[in-house]
Amino acid sequence: MSKAVRKYLIAGNWKMNKNAAEAVDLVKELQLEAGDQFLVSVLVCPPFTALESVAGIIEDSSIHLGAQNMHPEPSGAYTGEVSAEMLRHLFVTFVILGHSERRQYFNETDAFINTKVLAALNGSLKPIVCVGETLEEREAERTLEVVSSQVKGCLEGVPEEKADQLVIAYEPVWAIGTGKTATPEMAQEVHALIRGLLKEQFGEVMAERIRILYGGSMKPDNAYELLSQEDIDGGLIGGASLQARAFLKIMESARALSS
Ligand code: 13P
Repeated sequence: MSKAVRKYLIAGNWKMNKNAAEAVDLVKELQLEAGDQFLVSVLVCPPFTALESVAGIIEDSSIHLGAQNMHPEPSGAYTGEVSAEMLRHLFVTFVILGHSERRQYFNETDAFINTKVLAALNGSLKPIVCVGETLEEREAERTLEVVSSQVKGCLEGVPEEKADQLVIAYEPVWAIGTGKTATPEMAQEVHALIRGLLKEQFGEVMAERIRILYGGSMKPDNAYELLSQEDIDGGLIGGASLQARAFLKIMESARALSS
């Protein structure tokens, strides 16, 4: 089977940037150039406070809306948290889970992320499950071991019939926001490992349908090469997703590889 079964997903993780008005301005710019194309899936993940405003302006376009986190419980006494149902109510369809910043600053573990992944799937959201090694782990040649254990831990108990809703994002921690990117070969090696794990868990046909994104200083000038790798099916983009021009250029690389 080939890469052609998977549509590229170009996703912007805006992190804690842009208030609602700024978010609307950015999405309007994206919409002008990307809002009516269907060759590549385009996703924006603004902060919670901008979801509703952004949802209101992308409703007639092909741009999808994602959140950056959620709580696994459907409701209750969890101050400061939001549930899958609350997100879906705002027309959110994707949710980033287990980002390395949440692992690092909020002590999220694979087991906790796993509860969120299962809750997202139950709540009809597509989880973007983030994995990736730190610099220390890479230097100790533990990358494959660390990523394997994260993938297995985060995906435990995912029912096979829902696996095609999953997206995995490989984000080497040392490449996030640093300007250092994994070489296409380094990234492909880990993506192939992840595809292998997905095959073991869900079978070959399903594993070929699941998109695996690369994240970590993806920019217009390195996107084409990264995206041309066999198992790289898109990007989870931080810094470069905050400027319409840069984000659209990355999307153009995916489009060029799709046609
Ligand atoms: P940068 O693109 O800024 O390196 O961030 C990547 C990332 O963390 C996306 O989730």
